[in-house]
Amino acid sequence: MGLWTEHVVPRIVDVALGTEEVRAVRERVVSRARGEVVELGFGSGPTLPLYPAAVTSVRAVEPSAVARRRGARRIAEASVPVEHVGLDGAHLDLPDDCADTVVSTFTLCTIPDVELALREVRRILRPGGQLLFAEHGLSPDPRTARWQHRLDGLQQRVVGGCHLTRPIDGLIRDAGLRILDLEHEQVRGPAVATYLYLGAATP
Ligand SMILES: C[S@@+](CC[C@H](N)C(=O)[O-])C[C@H]1O[C@@H](n2cnc3c(N)ncnc32)[C@H](O)[C@@H]1O
Repeated sequence: MGLWTEHVVPRIVDVALGTEEVRAVRERVVSRARGEVVELGFGSGPTLPLYPAAVTSVRAVEPSAVARRRGARRIAEASVPVEHVGLDGAHLDLPDDCADTVVSTFTLCTIPDVELALREVRRILRPGGQLLFAEHGLSPDPRTARWQHRLDGLQQRVVGGCHLTRPIDGLIRDAGLRILDLEHEQVRGPAVATYLYLGAATP
């Protein structure tokens, strides 16, 4: 990981995704979490204070050492045990059927092998478990989508591998998960990075 990606990007992410509007979106999605949670791309843990009382533990997957350090205080203050269990959502050292909930907020855009990561989600979710997601991705508006394709390579280089053009619902379905509900929202910010996919899916 280069200096920019390791040291600067986690700080940019915390600011860009630290708005009240995004916090409300996260809270809406993770309010349905319960039981044993695995969180992909934990970052500095902005989701942690928003988990409901039904959550009993959180296993965090996060490759960035800087993000993990920045999350230490939130982990220390959390009311549930939180453990870092891996660096890559595409290769989880976790047994089959070990999670009631998998949470991914603004992470499926960034995991390099997102198809494999979603197959891992399906593998670790217990029957009846849920993937809860709040992600940005490909816009249905043709003009915005054209700009997303134009800027995708630049975005990946500047924002730590973040893709603008991933069709999040299609990727989830292709991994063999069934979407239970899906909402879209356009939040404030550049249109290319603010078309959201919010919802839940199950194995
Ligand atoms: C845009 S940030 C979002 C962080 C946090 N989930 C949030 O909502 O603010 C994307 C996160 O995915 C992490 N990430 C990158 N590659 C990953 C991988 N292969 N597996 C899991 N997480 C990854 C990054 O380090 C970063 O913390």
